[in-house]
Order: sequence, then C-alpha cells, then structure tokens
Amino acid sequence: MSDRDEPVVVEEAPNAERLTIPDDMPVLPLRDTVLFPNSFMPLAVAREASVRLIDEASTSGRMIGVFTQREATVEEPLQEDLYPIGTATHIHKMFKLPDGSLRLIVQGLTRVRLDRMLQTRPYLRAAVSLAEEVLRDEDRLEIDALQRNIKSNFQQVVSLSPLLSDDLQALAGNITDPGKLADFIASSLTTIGTPVKQDVLETLDIRARMDSLNRLLIKELEVLELGSKIQSQVQSEVGKNQREYFLREQMKAIQKELGEGDEQAKEVDELRAKLDAAGLPEPVRKEALRELDRLSKMPVAAAEYTVSRTYLDWIIALPWSKRTEDAIDLKKTKDVLDADHSGLEKVKDRVLEYLAVRKLNPDVKGPILCFLGPPGVGKTSLARSIANSLGRKFVRVSLGGMRDEAEIRGHRRTYIGALPGQVIQGLRRAESKNPVFILDEIDKLGSDFRGDPASALLEVLDPEQNSTFRDHYLDVPFDLSEVLFLTTANVLDPVPPPLRDRMEVLELAGYTEEEKLKIAVEHLVGKQIVNHGLTAEQVEFTDPAIRTIIRGYTREAGVRNLEREIGALCRKVARRRAEGDETKVTMTPEVVAAMLGAPTFLDEEIENRTKDPGVAVGLAWTPAGGEVLFVEASRMQGGGSLTLTGQLGDVMKESGRTALSWFRSNATRYGVDPAFYKDSEIHLHVPSGAIPKDGPSAGVTMVTALASELTGRPVRGDIAMTGEITLSGRVLPVGGIKEKVLAARRHGITEVILPRQNEKHIKEDLTDELRRELTIHYVIHIEEVLALALLPSSAQTHTGGLPVDDDFRQTVQ
Ligand SMILES: Nc1ncnc2c1ncn2[C@@H]1O[C@H](COP(=O)(O)OP(=O)(O)O)[C@@H](O)[C@H]1O
Ligand SMILES: [Mg+2]
Repeated sequence: MSDRDEPVVVEEAPNAERLTIPDDMPVLPLRDTVLFPNSFMPLAVAREASVRLIDEASTSGRMIGVFTQREATVEEPLQEDLYPIGTATHIHKMFKLPDGSLRLIVQGLTRVRLDRMLQTRPYLRAAVSLAEEVLRDEDRLEIDALQRNIKSNFQQVVSLSPLLSDDLQALAGNITDPGKLADFIASSLTTIGTPVKQDVLETLDIRARMDSLNRLLIKELEVLELGSKIQSQVQSEVGKNQREYFLREQMKAIQKELGEGDEQAKEVDELRAKLDAAGLPEPVRKEALRELDRLSKMPVAAAEYTVSRTYLDWIIALPWSKRTEDAIDLKKTKDVLDADHSGLEKVKDRVLEYLAVRKLNPDVKGPILCFLGPPGVGKTSLARSIANSLGRKFVRVSLGGMRDEAEIRGHRRTYIGALPGQVIQGLRRAESKNPVFILDEIDKLGSDFRGDPASALLEVLDPEQNSTFRDHYLDVPFDLSEVLFLTTANVLDPVPPPLRDRMEVLELAGYTEEEKLKIAVEHLVGKQIVNHGLTAEQVEFTDPAIRTIIRGYTREAGVRNLEREIGALCRKVARRRAEGDETKVTMTPEVVAAMLGAPTFLDEEIENRTKDPGVAVGLAWTPAGGEVLFVEASRMQGGGSLTLTGQLGDVMKESGRTALSWFRSNATRYGVDPAFYKDSEIHLHVPSGAIPKDGPSAGVTMVTALASELTGRPVRGDIAMTGEITLSGRVLPVGGIKEKVLAARRHGITEVILPRQNEKHIKEDLTDELRRELTIHYVIHIEEVLALALLPSSAQTHTGGLPVDDDFRQTVQ
C-alpha cells in the first residue's frame, strides 16, 4: 500500500509516445491521490504486499500500474475498488527505511486501462491496455483558445495562492502540448479533490479535458479572490484597531503627563452623578449612559468631545421629572387675573372655566387656548398672569418669522453647532416640565424649503403625540403632555387649518377710551413710574391728561402706544429731576402737549375730508384692530367705464361694480339722469393705496360715496358705516363689528350704520359705555343708509358733473 507524501512536479516527463505497454503489470493501489502521466511523485509504501510488489518490480525494472482507490479506507482493494483508468509508472528511485518501509519517487508515463485482475496475492496483478487520448482536428482552434485561457488563469491562481510555488508559472508556460498542460496543472493544484483529479485523468478527449480544467481554474480563482478579499478586510480591520489602540495608549500617556486623564475621569464621574440625579426616564438614561461611555473614551481635545459633552449637558439640564405643584385655586386665580388686568371679563371667565375643567380632570386634554386680537390688547401679558396664578413657570417663544422646522424641533447632532429647537430650549429655561408655554404670534409662522414649522408645531400641540415629542437634537422622546400651551394671534387666516382645529379662540377685540383710561390708571401709569425710578409723589397723571394722550397721540385698538407715551412722559420727568429740578410734576393736557409736542391725531380730519361730496366714511377690520376707511368716488367725462383703485381684492372690486349697478338702476329716485353713465368715467378709490384691502363690507360705503358724487350731496362726517350690499340693495351682515365700532369711537365718530343682522353681536359684545356714547342705526336696505348719511345738496360745494377739483383730490390723498 502506498501513501502519498507531497506532490512534486518536476520538469517535463520523458516522452511516453513510443512506450510499449506490457499486457499485464503489477498494480499499486493509491489512496487519496492521483498520479498523472509525465509527472513525478514521492510515495511512501509501508504494507507488506506493496513492499513486495515494489521489491520485485524494481529489481526487474518493470513498469507498474498505479490506480487510485475509490474509497481510501479499503485495506485490500479488489478490481471494483479501483478506478478503471490509471497510470503506467516507472519507479525512478527507491529508498529502504530501517523499519522496512519504502520511499519511492515514481514517474507517471501514460494512461492505462485496467482490463482484468489476474492475481490478488501476494500482490495485485492485472491485464492492462493503453488508454488512447482523443484529439480531433476540428477541435484545434478551440483547444488553442482554451490553452491560452488556462495558462493565464493558472498564472493568476498561482500568484494568488499561498500554497503554490511561483516556479509553476514558468513550468506551465513551457508546456506546449495541450493534454500534458492539462495533466500538469491538474496534478499541481493541491486544493482540488481526488475524485475531481481522477475525472481529469479519465477524460481522454483533450478538448473536454481542457474545458473541464478551465472551469476548475475559474472556480479556483473565484475562491482565491474571495479569500484574499476577506483576508485584506480582516487585515485592515486588525490594522485599524491596532492603530487606534496605540494612539489611545499614547494619548493616555500624554494626558497622564499633563494631568488631564485624571481630569477627564473626574469629569465623567461628575457627569454620571448628575445623570443619576436628573431623574431620566429609562430610554433616555440608557442613551445618555451610552454617550457618556463614548465620551470617556474620547480624547479631551477631540472636536467630538465637546459635541458629546454639550449633549450630555442638555440632557442633564432638562426638567425630565421636575415639575411645580399646581395650585389650581380658582378663587386665587381669579384674584390674580383681576389684579393684573382691567376688564376682559369674558376672556377671564372662559380661562377660569378652562382651568376648572383641568382641575377636575387633569387627564382630559382640552383644546389649546388661543388669544386672538390686535396688538397691545394684553394677550401675552394675560398668558403670563395665568402662569402666575397657577404657580407655574412661564415660557414664551415668539413664532414670528420662524420659517425653519429646525427652529421648533432642533438640528440633528451631526450638524456643526446643532442645538435643540425652541420647544426644548423653552423647557430648559422653565426648569419644569409643566410650565405655561406661550407660543406667541402663531399667525406669523412662515414656511419654506427648510420644512414646515407648522407641522412640527402640530406635533407639539397634539395631545396624542406630544408625550413622546422627539427633538432632532435630543433624539430621545420628551414628554410635553403636562405643558399648558397657550397661543396668541392677530389674525386666524394664516394659521394652517389643522393647527386652528386644535385651538379654542378667545377674542380680545380692543378697548374703548374709558377702558383704556382705566387700564392706564390701574396699571400702566404705576408700572411706568416704577420703571423709570420715580414715585407717585414725584409725578401724577390726571385723567384728562391720559385722555389727551389716548385721543391725540395714539390711535390703536390696544394700549401699547399709550403705555409707550406714558413711558416717554416719565422719562422726561426723570431727566428733569436728574438735571436738578425736583418739583413734583402733575400731568395735565397742557403739560402733555408741552412735553410730547402737538397732537398727531385730530378729530377735525374726518370732517375736512367729507366736506365735499364724493367721500364716505367706512369701517374696516384689520389685524391691528378696526380701522376707519374713506371711500372716494369721482366722475369724469368718459365713455361709460368704472375704475377701481387702492389695491383692492377681487371681492372688494365686485362690491364696487355692484354698488354702481344698483345706483344706475335707481338713479332717477335721487334726481340723477339714468343716462349719466354714457358719457362718464366713474372712479372709485380707497386710500391708503399701499395697503391691500379686501372683503365685501365696504359695499354700503361705496354706494354712499357714488350717490354723493352724482347727486352733489355731501356725506355726514360724523357717521360711519359698514355692510355688504346685493344688487337689489339689501344690506347683509359683516364681521368684526366690535373692532369696527371701537375704531369709529377712536376717531370721534358718534353714529354708525350697521346691518340689522349684526344687532345681536352688538348686544353681546359692546360695553354699556360704548352703547351710551354711540348712536347705532340698524338697516336692512341701502336706501335707509342714503337717507341717513347724505346731507341736502349745497350749491357752493356741488361740482355737479364737472371733473373733480384738483385741490380736493390733493386734500384727500
Ligand atoms: N386689560 C389690561 N389690563 C392691564 N394691562 C393691560 C391690559 N391689556 C394690555 N395691558 C398691558 O399692555 C401692554 C401690552 O400688552 P401685551 O400683552 O404685550 O399685548 P399683546 O400681546 O396683545 O400684543 C402690557 O404691558 C400689558 O400689561
Ligand atoms: Mg404679544
């Protein structure tokens, strides 16, 4: 029995072509290897039968047949245990070892077929015949191509494989015979199994042999390439880890030298203690500890260290479980609200109801309250005093001009200089997870390509979602469900509908002069005196003085400018005192005029503007509260056309056309020739031209201005009107009545004309004071309006159908 030692392939074997093959030969069975023709192989032979075979064969110089066993484990193989094709072999060299076993070097000569076993003892002997190779002429071309392929693939295999000697490349390169090349390569490849090698040996057709060998090589190449890829990955991984390890060790050494390592360790310990004390929810604690772990392994000088550190500082600073005790004592709350704000009874009542519900059932998530109204009516300050009355912390975030979603929700930590959004920042300032959180001026929220802040806000305000609000920076959920959100807005239109749906709107329309006076006396004056370092003994504001400020120096729905002017007066007093004049100042209308200069707003203005026909006084609603608005009509010679100017929206333009149509069809009743339109151009203008205006509520004012212009009858300057009209002259109800009425009062107007259907709003919304001071005419038809507003014609001022007087145009611009 022979055992394979190690493949040695030496030069090209002697030419086997002219070999004569004996009819029978001794058979040496091989395990686990295949001997190819033209190759040398060392063999170890140990068993008695085989030793005897070799002894006899070598002394007689005979060829032996080497056949591979199908199963390596069979000890005494018979014919059926051997593959049918083997190699006729020459024993090249033989050594006897002291233990009686043999070492041989054998040389394969040519393929032989085992035809029949002749004897099995003392060793195998069989009848054999030459196994002829097949080489067809028509295969030449393909064989050529295959040969080239095989050579180049083999080169690569050798260069990739650590097991194959590079000499093999040169050897294979020298072999020109395709069959021999295939045999040589097959015998050299150490990784292919014995059955595969045997298969190559048995393939007598050269083309087929080369083909299967080429496939073997390609497969081998793939395996080797994959292997080397894995290898290099592993290597670079190991390399990187080692590199980092060494650098870290060096860094540690340096830090130790500098005494920094201890510092860092101390810092990490401190952070850990703080994290433990921060009352973090479990998922947050986990994330924070992971970050701390990262931090502890980072060099202090790394940029990332600061990023990581800042993040942990944020986590530590947030009120994860800090809250203030709620003291919803409705009596106390009411006292606080009353003490801070004059008037506003309806709004305060609603706030108290809202808080009562929350007190009874803290789990019910009510709507978000939204204070709606013009500037300076106390929306923000009311919210602040709600926080005070509840004993909660107060945060305010102004949404004005916010366009970037990240301002609400923060930037991801991967951004340089990233920070949490305004919501989380607000909570950090509040140092409590249940503050009153004002989202101020929600109507000023913008949106652009950087994402929609409104949708982020929606998540903040949605009770279904806000218990797990996720700021991009924190990247862990924060519970907002205990925050009491309040919002404010001047107008509702720009607020996206989904946000609006979340809110219950409480309107603060604006104040009357009496209310403003009261606010000033009870709050503003005292506040401003203190703010300017003065005392009540040093300066005193009389009621007439305050009225003068309200009428002559401010024209607003709220009290912001009023407060500012009071402040300006206090400043003058403070300066006077600083300059040495320490006499007490008593503010009277005269002192006010002396200190603030001539009044800016005068009530004569309106009368001046309505002296001539063609101008009517309307009332409009704007985000800043109600406004008085003038509508001018003029008639020029022309060809029957209507011009509308003053930046009017579509709805307002339609009102203009409707107004003209109604007047044309009713002209005779007002003594105007219905044909007036044929040779006229009618122009309707609403100053101030730069401000866009829209809505149907100027309808009655437009008809009145037109009628005035065409009849030559001036309009009363002390009467203002609002209302939509239909073609048949009906007057329809409009919105914003309270603001409009307040605006009329601010301008010293004493009578207003309103649609009958708005009567109920007046009853609900107007204070007794307003109802006392104002005469309100409710109308259902435009004829009633004209009857009330138009004065009898006066010959001097009537310009009839003539083009409008230039001087007049100037005065109204
Ligand atoms: N009803 C009121 N009682 C007392 N002070 C008021 C009242 N309304 C407004 N103010 C004061 O007017 C100023 C402007 O109010 P603010 O809350 O800023 O108005 P808004 O937020 O509606 O624009 C504040 O100093 C506020 O205290
Ligand atoms: Mg405000």
